[in-house]
Amino acid sequence: MKPVIEAIRIRRSLRSYTGEPLEDWQVDNLIKAFMYAPSAMNWRPCHLIVVRERETLQKLSKATPWAKMLERAGAGFVIVGDEQKSQWWIEDCSIACEHLWLEAADMGLGACWVQVRGVEGAEENIRNLLGIPEEMRVLSIMAVGVPKKTKPPHDESKIEKERLHFEKF
Ligand SMILES: Cc1cc2nc3c(=O)[nH]c(=O)nc-3n(C[C@H](O)[C@H](O)[C@H](O)COP(=O)(O)O)c2cc1C
Repeated sequence: MKPVIEAIRIRRSLRSYTGEPLEDWQVDNLIKAFMYAPSAMNWRPCHLIVVRERETLQKLSKATPWAKMLERAGAGFVIVGDEQKSQWWIEDCSIACEHLWLEAADMGLGACWVQVRGVEGAEENIRNLLGIPEEMRVLSIMAVGVPKKTKPPHDESKIEKERLHFEKF
């Protein structure tokens, strides 16, 4: 296990995977990372659908124009929010997504966020495919796999002075 800042440094959007399945312990850790995330008022509106079947991953890879990497992912983690349970479901689900992403990076896996909310037709496609109730919202899918290609970690060039403020804007 690395320090948190190290997982943050090495986390990248990796979209190329070997196609190997994830191991059960890796999936367990990713579930924990997601479920241990904070939520506003502790209302916990976030649901997680773990998809490991290749046929479903292939269908999901066509659900948005930017989801192709799911074809060869080891698993896809579909992030669903209960809008009726919390008006802050987007914030809560986004934090939980990032937890999962950092845990994937820490385990040496590649991961990438696939945006669903607001992408035309995508939510509907996924709702039909996975039997998600009408009143639930789909934020995103996290594609996770054994990386075929990696990317360099972040470095201090990302600390853009024009975006950094102290005391006042
Ligand atoms: C809200 C959000 C939506 C994103 N949607 C997609 C997507 O649909 N498909 C994709 O390939 N990458 C997606 N990404 C990944 C970004 O392109 C990526 O984070 C960005 O280029 C920075 O690269 P890095 O993650 O390697 O630091 C998304 C990232 C975020 C935070």
